Amino acid sequence: MIMCKTSKEIGGMGHSLKRKEDARFIRGLGKYTDDVQLPGMLYMDIARSPFAYAKIKSIDKSVAMEIPGVLAVITGEDLKQYNLHWMPTLMSDTQMVLPTDTVMYQAQEVAAVIATDRYIAADAVQALENSIEYEQMKPLIDPHKALDADAPLLRPDKEGRTDNHIWHWQTGDQEATEQAFDEADVVVKEQVYIPRIHVASIETCGCVASYEKAEGKLTVWMTTQAPHAIRTVIALVAGHVGLSEERIRVISPDIGGGFGGKVPVYPGYVIAIAASFLIGKPVKWIEDRSENLQADSFARDYHMTVELASTKEGKMTGLRIKTLADHGYTDAAANPSKFPSGLFSIVTGSYDIPTAFTEMDAVYTNKPPGGVAYRCSFRVTEAVHAIERITDVLAQKLGRDPADLRFQNFIQKDQFPYRSALGWEYDSGDYAPALRKAMDMVGYEELRKEQAEKRVRGELMGIGISSFTEIVGAGPSKDFDILGIKMFDSAEVRIHPTGKAIARFGTKSQGQGHETTYAQILAEELGIPAMHIQIEEGDTDTAPYGLGTYASRSTPTAGAAAAKAAHKIRDKARKIAAYLLEVSEEDLEWEPGKFFVKGAPERSKTIQDIAFAAYTNHPQGMEAGLEATHYYDPPNLTFPFGSYICVMDIDPKTAEMKIRRFVAIDDCGNIINPMIVTGQIHGGLAMGIAPAMYEELIYDDDGNILNGTFMDYLLPTSVETPNWETGHTITPSPHHPLGAKGVAESPTVGAPPAVANAVVDALSHLGVTHVDIPVTPFKVWKILKEKGVIS
Ligand code: CDP
Repeated sequence: MIMCKTSKEIGGMGHSLKRKEDARFIRGLGKYTDDVQLPGMLYMDIARSPFAYAKIKSIDKSVAMEIPGVLAVITGEDLKQYNLHWMPTLMSDTQMVLPTDTVMYQAQEVAAVIATDRYIAADAVQALENSIEYEQMKPLIDPHKALDADAPLLRPDKEGRTDNHIWHWQTGDQEATEQAFDEADVVVKEQVYIPRIHVASIETCGCVASYEKAEGKLTVWMTTQAPHAIRTVIALVAGHVGLSEERIRVISPDIGGGFGGKVPVYPGYVIAIAASFLIGKPVKWIEDRSENLQADSFARDYHMTVELASTKEGKMTGLRIKTLADHGYTDAAANPSKFPSGLFSIVTGSYDIPTAFTEMDAVYTNKPPGGVAYRCSFRVTEAVHAIERITDVLAQKLGRDPADLRFQNFIQKDQFPYRSALGWEYDSGDYAPALRKAMDMVGYEELRKEQAEKRVRGELMGIGISSFTEIVGAGPSKDFDILGIKMFDSAEVRIHPTGKAIARFGTKSQGQGHETTYAQILAEELGIPAMHIQIEEGDTDTAPYGLGTYASRSTPTAGAAAAKAAHKIRDKARKIAAYLLEVSEEDLEWEPGKFFVKGAPERSKTIQDIAFAAYTNHPQGMEAGLEATHYYDPPNLTFPFGSYICVMDIDPKTAEMKIRRFVAIDDCGNIINPMIVTGQIHGGLAMGIAPAMYEELIYDDDGNILNGTFMDYLLPTSVETPNWETGHTITPSPHHPLGAKGVAESPTVGAPPAVANAVVDALSHLGVTHVDIPVTPFKVWKILKEKGVIS
């Protein structure tokens, strides 16, 4: 039961306020990057490589330049003159903006055309693409072969590098883990592959770069989740040509979905900026769908060997994971710099496993660069999949019910704050009630009976459980930075004389509803109605510096900053109220919206009275105005969790699969807006079943992408999406000022193993222990054929 401290009119935390931003979104009046129109604007399009690995022999610019309306063709050689042909990735690797001699993956940017019209630019790109001569080379596609002696050395540009190994990373106590495995009664092991998938946001990436020569000022409207960090990166990369940070304004307007894919800097942004800088006119670049799918950062691509040790009674005693990570031709992962494999080390999950060791090697291949913190807090999806899958494998080996095994191994409520074997301090958790609630909602015992009866009749149904723990809210800044920029976040709040407010943040919503929920946080803390608090994000000229929105970090960081800024405002408001009421500050008490004199509640001043006085009648010597800024550096991350149960029916003749029920119980601590949280869960669950059942980028041996359009890169539509049955438990975060944790990505990490576990559960009596996602009907059909179920 959610208790609200404020009235519905104030609309603080716990109220299901309708989303303020929807007034424009549902009317089709959002303002996206592609809506930006500037006088004299030019259009850019990009010629891309048809090959995964090839030398560029020649680029004949004239074929494009001859087309009326084409103003320029930009190649790597052109950018080289300004030392802009390479750029750093967010993981301090290097990436070509445009190549000067070699292309490294299919669909890589090779040259750009600037024209007076979008269609002319596209025609010119086609002519240019037909004219570029290449010398094809045999690409390296299989990451397992990346370290073979005869593998081509993909990055000879990197001094001292003699092979395709990028980094090795390990964490945990190797010796103690070996010992736990040596002494274990039972050890289970699976090869788990999480394939390469792509961010499939509705809006593709793009920008409008406008360099005003007279003022020497660059304004870039762009599809970015982290405008401030991008401004700093532009200044660092292009400072030498005169673009210093005070002359750069990055505006991130409305964004049609980001999910991590709009964190990296893509070559297209840089080329458009360079083009505007050189030509002195605004340049628009908007990717088409295929470019977005084929060339932008991917996620996942982890090949994992997962092992779990336990006693014969089922007590987990050790976890060991070895991973090969395929990063494509450059490590462009958007991870905090100290965590090359992101927060994968949350992999012990919800279980009290005393020892664990994980190691990972990343390699280069001829594929697009990545991977992004796509739909999770930096590689948590991979971690949750590994632990939730192997837990089921152990249950199967021991002949135990997977729910029972989870209850036995859960970290117990009184163990929090809990330090995991891989070093994380979980802030709070209470896992058993969430799983129990999910089991009650789905009718678990009945379903198990039904399954047993169906098995006798040769029918297939599976029940998949996932009891995951997320880790969200990067910082703390002592451990978390991106390219050296510390990870904190910010809020700046100004109260106007009439008691209304504007607040600006360093984060950037991409559909999560920040304009509503941040206003609710301030309403909660100040008693000003949320409808009277305007929220702005995404403009580096006006918003305070922040690291942006991804990895469900907004509530844990900027949400907390909003509360802290409100407290500073309240401190000043108390002084003004004391002055107005002619009492001392200690004699005053606060309730949302007003200060009153202790014991004499009729003597009070509302926040509106106080705001007016702050500009008209404040104490002599006090600064006028009522505003505050707070940069919040969280003391720890937050650890939301949940238990999901998927019930899957499989047709034993055709292997057609159907999710019959899907119950999701989430715990994100105190909830700001229950309706928005439910919306986040619904969307996230759809995105969770997507990689579980449909999504995978497939390459042939020559590095050709085989499913580079939405015709064959499958996403669930409303037809495939089941009816979600959601619920929650509430375990507040002890260190967050509002007791809130992030939520947005819990369903995207929690859902895939629930689906995979349901499919394996349906087939477990046939001796099946694992099926890699996506669990397609074809994979299941092949298993049924092998096992003789289908003749
Ligand atoms: O960083 P991002 O906005 O993607 O993720 P988040 O912090 O998990 O928030 C997603 C949305 O859910 C925001 O509008 C939050 O304010 C809202 N939320 C909430 O209402 N209560 C929570 N405990 C967590 C998030």
